[in-house]
Amino acid sequence: MSDEHAPVDPALVPRRELRGGATVPAIGIGTFGSDRYSPAEVAAAVAGAVAAGYRLVDCAAVYGNEAQVGEALAGAVAGGVDRDELFVVSKVWNDAHAPADAVASVHRSLRDLRLDHLDAVFVHWPFPNHHPPMADTDARDPRARPYDHDAYLALWGALEGLVDSGLVRHLGTSNTTVAKLDLLLRDARIPPALNEMELHPCFQQPELFAHCVRHGIQPVGYSPLGSPSRPERDRTPGDVVDTEDPVVVRIAREHGVHPALVCLKWAVARGQVPIPFSVKPAQYTANLRAVVEDPLTAQEVADLAAADRGERLIKGQVFLWPGAESWRDLWDEDGTIVGWTER
Ligand SMILES: NC(=O)c1ccc[n+]([C@@H]2O[C@H](COP(=O)([O-])OP(=O)(O)OC[C@H]3O[C@@H](n4cnc5c(N)ncnc54)[C@H](OP(=O)(O)O)[C@@H]3O)[C@@H](O)[C@H]2O)c1
Repeated sequence: MSDEHAPVDPALVPRRELRGGATVPAIGIGTFGSDRYSPAEVAAAVAGAVAAGYRLVDCAAVYGNEAQVGEALAGAVAGGVDRDELFVVSKVWNDAHAPADAVASVHRSLRDLRLDHLDAVFVHWPFPNHHPPMADTDARDPRARPYDHDAYLALWGALEGLVDSGLVRHLGTSNTTVAKLDLLLRDARIPPALNEMELHPCFQQPELFAHCVRHGIQPVGYSPLGSPSRPERDRTPGDVVDTEDPVVVRIAREHGVHPALVCLKWAVARGQVPIPFSVKPAQYTANLRAVVEDPLTAQEVADLAAADRGERLIKGQVFLWPGAESWRDLWDEDGTIVGWTER
């Protein structure tokens, strides 16, 4: 019987190969404090998570804690962790889509995270629509607008320049759709290597997931446990609760583990890279351990397909533009990009 609190040897954690041949650990630690955990608490979790064996850290400028997380990463490297073993992601927030702003944002993230390169940079959302930190559900940006492919390409081109200069190793999309991804794949000089998307048993996004895989884009799954501590602005009556889903609960009982760990075992079996968040050592260690021992059976993975409800938790309503009908307009559900036409 293994000691469930003992660190996990990072060499035991499966890895996924990215476009270009680099590899990324099959699980990482998230760093969004959900407006409830302070930068110091998140940084302490990152330090603890790296000591526990995590090597992938999902950061973002908007999380407001990159300076503290950077201190934790520098401490880990000073303590003997090889920088080249770490895979550190950051994201360009919606208020920095102008090319010069995006470049400045990545430079700021590099300085705050105390790194000479980022392993990946994602465009956090495909719109420049901004909300202030700690915004509530009704907050709206009066200058918000729908997707504009030319503007997105200009932003992407600026990030491609950072790849050329060696400051960034891979580019990624986040909160995108099949329709938007197709345009980017058509027009980008450097295609995305990763796509960060909401993925948990009750929201599996099979079409976008398969599209990414088909195009050599590694899916990264955010809110992999169904984000039980997400901010109020991201809660809607009737939202799915993964850890209460009957199939998840049944399989958790069979394995003698918390339902959260079934979500992670499923994620890794399916091939996405989950990035669960926790500041609690027992939780983040158990989350990592879940992906190196006692895997689900093929039957259990197949059974979990039935948990998909097709309803997202992170709807993005605060990013809507004047005149938009509902948050569904953000997600191109009929395959066309709402509010945008090719010129
Ligand atoms: N690209 C994007 O737009 C985007 C959007 C959302 C998230 N993300 C990224 O994805 C990461 C994870 O998403 P998330 O934080 O929304 O949700 P999540 O990882 O699904 O849920 C995190 C919460 O689950 C609970 N938890 C963690 N491990 C557990 C365990 N073993 N047993 C029971 N409960 C457990 C904790 O709740 P308590 O703290 O209450 O114990 C924790 O705060 C974020 O930190 C961020 O890096 C990206």
